[in-house]
Amino acid sequence: MRVIIQNAHLRDGRGDHGAHDLYLQDGVIEGVNLGGKVDETFDAAGRLVTPAFIDLHAHLREPGQEQKEDLASGLAAAAAGGFGTVVSMANTTPPVDDPGVVASLIHKAERLGFARLRPAATLSRGLKGQELTDFAALKDAGAVMITDDGVPVADGHLMRRACEYALDHGLVIQTHSEDPGLRQNGVINEGVVSQRLGLPGNPVAAEAAMIYRDCEIAAMTGARVHIAHVSSKRGMQVVEFFRAQGAPITCEVTPHHLTLTDAVLETFDPIHKVAPPLRTAEDIAFLRDAVRRGVVDSIGTDHAPHTRAEKDRDMVAAPFGIGNIEVTFPLLYTELVEGDGLPLETLLHLLQAGPARVMSWSVPTFEPGQPADLVVLDLEAERAVQPETFKSKAKFSPWEGLSLKGWPMLTFVRGCVAYMSG
Ligand code: DOR
Ligand code: ZN
Repeated sequence: MRVIIQNAHLRDGRGDHGAHDLYLQDGVIEGVNLGGKVDETFDAAGRLVTPAFIDLHAHLREPGQEQKEDLASGLAAAAAGGFGTVVSMANTTPPVDDPGVVASLIHKAERLGFARLRPAATLSRGLKGQELTDFAALKDAGAVMITDDGVPVADGHLMRRACEYALDHGLVIQTHSEDPGLRQNGVINEGVVSQRLGLPGNPVAAEAAMIYRDCEIAAMTGARVHIAHVSSKRGMQVVEFFRAQGAPITCEVTPHHLTLTDAVLETFDPIHKVAPPLRTAEDIAFLRDAVRRGVVDSIGTDHAPHTRAEKDRDMVAAPFGIGNIEVTFPLLYTELVEGDGLPLETLLHLLQAGPARVMSWSVPTFEPGQPADLVVLDLEAERAVQPETFKSKAKFSPWEGLSLKGWPMLTFVRGCVAYMSG
């Protein structure tokens, strides 16, 4: 199978590589301007072609919560968002703590033809925070990351043992750094908004203190620790403190923590309820600055779909989580690149080479022989967020109706079309 993408304006995190006819053959990039016969032709005139994005953090809900999302809907949604690779979180029902489940997820995803699935497995059996899972067997089955994401690892000793074990097997540990004791039953950021609304608050200290502990354990053990969804200025300052000392840590920020403040909770709409919670304008400004200064390694979506019925409950009862994988690029392109002067290269880096480096995967490029995982982006056309058109089962969005630029038009995975707009 040989494919040509004509007039492909090639750009990635390293810069602008000019407009070329790009050839894909049997799932890999063949080269540019080669000529010869092709089986399929696509025209990318006026658009940008870039390596498909990598998401190290998405909740796809399989097995067991398929009413919220399943592999087919979640990986189709990912492809629609321009993602070619997704690391699925393991806080499913049952949790992904068993090599057989890892293998079956991979097997199932391969036949779907959407984004590639690289599953994470849990750190503790049953997500209970008491006993480690069998990292070696989980890795053999195909798990690429160890994380209890969704549930903080309360026991520092268990985290230490997990780091030692992960180091032995070259696995990355992703944390959900919130101190459960400090977090209590907080449902939104603790501050003026929580006080005004009379809702239980979750203080920044819960995040900052746990990030400190997790970085300290990373430094002590030498294990590769990825701090997920840093939401606050103080949390990011702790990350910077440890990075400056050369600790083996990396960190992630999410689209929602970069764009929404806790003021949106004044609506009392649990659509905005997420853990860690949305913070303040000062936190957003600091996170954006950290992105600009190269402190952040990856943007992970933390796509966390729930059913409408669950999200229609009250602020205390509704589950935490925001579905966002289909709007991540247009949202960040519009608000950070167009709206706030962030270089496009930086945004692309955080969705491509950045996450690849976190995982020690090869960095995606346009070189011949590289996997033909690509996305065609339209940076000009402006379109409103229409959740009813989402591939995700969660057809609602905090950004509904917002007019955005930068929509993915076409996503290739292994040289095949995994998503086409319209
Ligand atoms: O908002 C969140 N949603 N935070 C988490 O930690 C878990 C996630 C989920 O699984 O829904
Ligand atoms: Zn998560």
